[in-house]
Amino acid sequence: MTSITLMMIKPDAVENGYIGKIIEKVTSSGFKIRALKLTQLSKQDAERFYHVHKERSFYPELVNFMSRSPIVAAVLEKKNAVNDFRNLIGSTNPLEADEGTIRKLYATSIGENAVHGSDSDKNAEIEASFHFSGREQF
Ligand code: CMP
Repeated sequence: MTSITLMMIKPDAVENGYIGKIIEKVTSSGFKIRALKLTQLSKQDAERFYHVHKERSFYPELVNFMSRSPIVAAVLEKKNAVNDFRNLIGSTNPLEADEGTIRKLYATSIGENAVHGSDSDKNAEIEASFHFSGREQF
């Protein structure tokens, strides 16, 4: 049985020209792309997407960062998608990420950490619906 996860290639990685390298790593690791787009979050979108973090000290910085320039959003499918994708991207802080993970390769800091991956199957469904209509998911 397969499941889905929601990936965002964050503004830092898009600005640094890593879209192609990240998508190649994701697909060569066995993930199938079910939805994909280049888009930009408004401040209000970013506030809504990250509302669970609204009491955290880094929330204003996170909202500014995530809305400052385009991102790539994608729905990825694989067996055990959420956990396998979190292993592929590595720790939130790139300094603590394992060698070969996407954050180790392409992230610059704990705040600007190149990629997002859903943290549960339930949130993957919610986050996929946040970015894509039913007609945009295949
Ligand atoms: P992610 O795990 O994708 O979603 C929550 C985001 O909050 C996280 O990536 C980072 O981009 C950001 N974040 C988490 N911890 C910090 C921190 N200590 N300082 C700044 N940003 C953070």
